[in-house]
Amino acid sequence: MINMNKAALITGITGQDGAYLSEFLLKKGYRVFGLLARRSSNTSWRLRYLGIEDRVQFVEGDLTDLSSLVRALSHFEVEEVYNLGAQSFVATSWMQPILTGYVTGLGAVHLLEAIRLANRKIRFYQASTSEMFGKIQQPVQTEQTPFYPRSPYGAAKLYAHWMTVNYRESFGMHASSGILFNHESPLRGIEFVTRKITDGVARIKCGLQKELRLGNLDAKRDWGFAGDYVEAMWEMLQQPVPDDYVVATGRSVSVRDFCKLAFSHVGLDYEHFVVSDPKFQRPAEVQVLLGNAAKAKDKLGWQPKTSLEELIAMMVDSDMRRISGQNDSDAH
Ligand code: NAP
Ligand code: GDD
Repeated sequence: MINMNKAALITGITGQDGAYLSEFLLKKGYRVFGLLARRSSNTSWRLRYLGIEDRVQFVEGDLTDLSSLVRALSHFEVEEVYNLGAQSFVATSWMQPILTGYVTGLGAVHLLEAIRLANRKIRFYQASTSEMFGKIQQPVQTEQTPFYPRSPYGAAKLYAHWMTVNYRESFGMHASSGILFNHESPLRGIEFVTRKITDGVARIKCGLQKELRLGNLDAKRDWGFAGDYVEAMWEMLQQPVPDDYVVATGRSVSVRDFCKLAFSHVGLDYEHFVVSDPKFQRPAEVQVLLGNAAKAKDKLGWQPKTSLEELIAMMVDSDMRRISGQNDSDAH
């Protein structure tokens, strides 16, 4: 339904989810504002890929700078804030644990504080993660499963998650947390394993690369499509009461099987190209994740629309177009 009156601020608007959420909210008639952290290079390629770069309004700011968040919220009147900004790459969080804590953990609290100061009625979404389950305590993870983070990233996200719950309970704020399992797309950062694989498949198919070096091929993830998942974020903020929700597909597949499917999509056998390289192993691994999104289905009416096979086809085809030069955009 079109709603011309609503406005939203998105942190992390230049990331994968920020781009899809912007597109989704624009279709709903929202005015979309995005916090743009200062970078030496232009990072808006995802918004350009979706053809919406000119339809969102940027406000300069950084999650580590409370004053910039207060200024952003006092400058633009918004009803909803989506906190998607983060140092989101798990492997990097061991190399930059303190920065990850500042941005991914404390950044969320800066934003909650800015909302408390500016207007407590603003509805808040926190991008929580299945990484918080880490060393899983139950074979299928729900909102009730105890957390056991295995990385500085997971620990930072868990702090942000509990602070979201705490602000909800302490100040009556409409603060919700989406515990999202891995979600991917053609807009996924190239350092994440799915995109590394689909980019590798395209390069090998086009004769630009001979092998694909990966880390732990036995890790299993519950992978969905990012475009489906941003709809659940919005649904959470439309509820009369704030809450926490697991968002997942309920199917867990190994990195090896993801490779098998991606290579076979272009008629290749992954075993001829994929090499396991200890360089890409992590100091502590999350071996397997598998979510149960029954609550999101029941309360939000949300369920995934895109199968893993459709997702892989979408990603490989997009990388094939880019690598073979049929796509003249600046997509990465
Ligand atoms: P992403 O592509 O890595 O995007 C991260 C965004 O955060 C980028 O726009 C980045 O800006 C911004 N950012 C980084 N440091 C910042 C800072 N100091 N201040 C403000 N913004 C900053 O991540 P994503 O995949 O879209 O994920 C969105 C959120 O969901 C993240 O919080 C992530 O941790 C969480 N999450 C993701 C998944 C998943 O599978 N994708 C699952 C669960 C939770 P630049 O582009 O300028 O660097
Ligand atoms: N990146 C990467 N590169 N991962 C590899 C590789 C490789 O070469 N080889 C194997 N893997 C394994 C990792 O060890 C991990 O077990 C799995 O593939 C997935 O890694 P990533 O794609 O980097 O994602 P992630 O699961 O660590 O984190 C993502 O999902 C989280 C939700 O569970 C990120 O998007 C996080 O921000 C998000 O919170």
